[in-house]
Amino acid sequence: MPITVNLASAAEKSCHDIIHDYSYPPARTRPARMSSGVLTPRRLRLVLPRFHHVLSFTMIETTLAFIGGGNMTGSLVGGLIADGWKPARIHVADPDPQQTERLARRFSVVTTADNQAAVNHADAVVLAVKPQIIRTVAGELAQLIGQRQPLVVSIAAGIRETSLRDWLGKDTAIVRAMPNTPALVQSGATALYANPAVSEQQRNLAESILRAVGLVIWVDDEAMMDTVTALSGSGPAYFFLLMESLTSAGSRMGLPEDTARLLALQTAFGAAKMALESADDAAQLRRRVTSPGGTTERAIGEFQKNNFEGIVLQAMQAAAERSRELAAEFGKG
Ligand SMILES: NC(=O)c1ccc[n+]([C@@H]2O[C@H](COP(=O)([O-])OP(=O)(O)OC[C@H]3O[C@@H](n4cnc5c(N)ncnc54)[C@H](OP(=O)(O)O)[C@@H]3O)[C@@H](O)[C@H]2O)c1
Repeated sequence: MPITVNLASAAEKSCHDIIHDYSYPPARTRPARMSSGVLTPRRLRLVLPRFHHVLSFTMIETTLAFIGGGNMTGSLVGGLIADGWKPARIHVADPDPQQTERLARRFSVVTTADNQAAVNHADAVVLAVKPQIIRTVAGELAQLIGQRQPLVVSIAAGIRETSLRDWLGKDTAIVRAMPNTPALVQSGATALYANPAVSEQQRNLAESILRAVGLVIWVDDEAMMDTVTALSGSGPAYFFLLMESLTSAGSRMGLPEDTARLLALQTAFGAAKMALESADDAAQLRRRVTSPGGTTERAIGEFQKNNFEGIVLQAMQAAAERSRELAAEFGKG
């Protein structure tokens, strides 16, 4: 039966309990699929803080290769090391020596300019290059991946699993990940989709890689990745837009710009924290701070008169449409 959980009190559970939740067998750590909108105890584990001293057999024995040593790889590697992965088990390939030197200095990971050398010992290969060049990179690695059969995790926005299989080989085990920009500050939200070739153990591995930078959910239907892109992928920009608008309105209404900005940012942070920690949904929280005849009610009335919900829906539909267009463009055979 679905239950409601208080995430704050759950997060305050003892370390012992949390280690128990995260320990192997891995199936225990598999999240619920995105099939219903309720929090279940299994989902709860997705939002609990990471505990860095929790080591698993996967971490000790698995070698990862990151192709592309840019922003996203930097964040993922940082999260993995903080989670207890051994630097010697993480290989990063990037043609730019500045990028590899920066990562080697910061995390002591193994670096190379040669993508194939990185893949040569890897159990999982994370494709973290720009979508425009993923086809070229996949073409270079196809033979090696065909021989070694590692898990391939692609974080490239909009590149479909079918395109990846066309380039890498029909039997390749592929997990598509759609992270978002807050992953850069270890507060991301990532949706994962696995093709049928991915084993249970590989699903757990993909999940532990992406969980290093925040919350992870699984989707069963790859088409949902366009909706995820429109929601959490592009979503940080929607919240930035609201922060921008609040700052500019506050400033036009007489506050110093810096004061308006700080108040807008802290209000966004506080609202998100409250919503994450509360057992109530956002609509209930909103109603609770909207007293009849009060200031908030007047403001919300203005939003609703101007069809705020409809605007958000339209914006998300436009983003999902663009995601489909980009997939068609970058995924050409
Ligand atoms: N950043 C985000 O918030 C975010 C969110 C969701 C998804 N993603 C996805 O994550 C992927 C990586 O994004 P990012 O922000 O980390 O990009 P990035 O900072 O540009 O990193 C990509 C790296 O790949 C390197 N590279 C170029 N050609 C290569 C090759 N042939 N082999 C190996 N490496 C090569 C690039 O080097 P040069 O700079 O020298 O070209 C660069 O260092 C993208 O596909 C993006 O769609 C990113």
